[in-house]
Amino acid sequence: METYKLNEENFTNLKFENFINTESGEDIFDKTLRLDNLLKTGVKTGQEALGMVTMNKAQPDSLIKEKDGTIHPVIMLGSNSYLNLSTHPTVMKGAQKALEKFGYGMGAVSNYAGITELHKELEKRIANFYGCEDSIVFPSGYGANVGIISALCSKNDIIINDSANHASIFDGCVLSGAEIKIYPHRDMKYLERILSKIPPEKTGRLIITDGVFSMDGDIAPLDIITELAEKYNCRVMVDDAHGVGVVGPTGKGSAEHYGVMDKIDLNVGMLSKGPGGLGGYCAANRQIVQYLRLYARSYFFSTAMPASIAGGLNEVFKLLENDNAGRQELMQKTEYLKEKLLSEGFDIGHSQSAIIPVMIKSEPVLFELYEKLRANGVYVNIVTYPAVRRKECRLRLCMMKNLSYEQIDKSVDIISKFAKLYGVIN
Ligand SMILES: Cc1ncc(COP(=O)(O)O)c(C=O)c1O
Repeated sequence: METYKLNEENFTNLKFENFINTESGEDIFDKTLRLDNLLKTGVKTGQEALGMVTMNKAQPDSLIKEKDGTIHPVIMLGSNSYLNLSTHPTVMKGAQKALEKFGYGMGAVSNYAGITELHKELEKRIANFYGCEDSIVFPSGYGANVGIISALCSKNDIIINDSANHASIFDGCVLSGAEIKIYPHRDMKYLERILSKIPPEKTGRLIITDGVFSMDGDIAPLDIITELAEKYNCRVMVDDAHGVGVVGPTGKGSAEHYGVMDKIDLNVGMLSKGPGGLGGYCAANRQIVQYLRLYARSYFFSTAMPASIAGGLNEVFKLLENDNAGRQELMQKTEYLKEKLLSEGFDIGHSQSAIIPVMIKSEPVLFELYEKLRANGVYVNIVTYPAVRRKECRLRLCMMKNLSYEQIDKSVDIISKFAKLYGVIN
């Protein structure tokens, strides 16, 4: 097939960061007008799907409605509901029962009678899942990271981050006022170099890492991280948003994958991805959780999660506790997809989870390819700055347990056809 020649004029040189700051002499809203003027010219920014809606639950065969009103079917490879728990009948029944009993919103923050027995049961289940004394559930995953880090760390402390950590972790670090250090993604030599240079008087030390990295699908080397933490007297926080229920010999996540569950001080995770609901949590010892209930401002000052979500999540954790949520089927299908993509010649990084990056490395190609895939019935995520560096821009494929092998085959055929057209593969 002949390679398609991109018309570079269709792409803008103006970048995301050109619209962050108010320029000298501008009103604070002027940058919104500058952005609006640019978008009206029709140049491609990669965000063309913003405003597209899904017409159904998170499921493999989806209908989407484009901004212009056209509705068309896609195979869904862009959902974080990896285990299809957001549509699991028992989970939905749990949510419905709670909805009937408690209504659709809690009307109060957790410390002002915003929580029910269902919320408390959920915290107990999450604590047991990690073998911890207690856990705290936040109404948002983003808010969990921001609240936990900014509560526990302050200006005298130092936080050491993997460069690929989620934005909410970095936002929590900035809000905390602590000194922030960053090591290149999974570079353990660099991490040790940072740790070895921390002055002895700086005693408040926290290493934070994603468990499964959200844009790469690989797992943090927690065996080495926990060893280094012991050697240099650091605490360890793992955000296992994409690992819970998915990786580890019984689905307990990234720390279980490396056999170091007892070495993690703060087991953070999100209830919005594999668990299929909404919210975030931290499982830890009793005193830490008690402290967070009083000092994590995104908990103290934010309305509690709806009881229906808590009711659904209790059913989710009953399944996860027994490793009975379909993890093995999910991972078999992920391996199948990975092998197919590799045999087509794609660069898919080093995924160890249900997230598979497909490296494109050119924004103009990425934007065009993404549009073509969507129009031709395959929905994948488009990933570039600020989520990753532009030169590492990619498509992100997320496996769902209920995708059929036929749907996987068809998706790879379509992705390969257009990737060849744009010269991504031969
Ligand atoms: C690693 C990681 N942490 C935190 C979050 C935030 O979670 P939520 O979407 O539930 O707010 C995400 C979601 O994008 C994530 O990927």
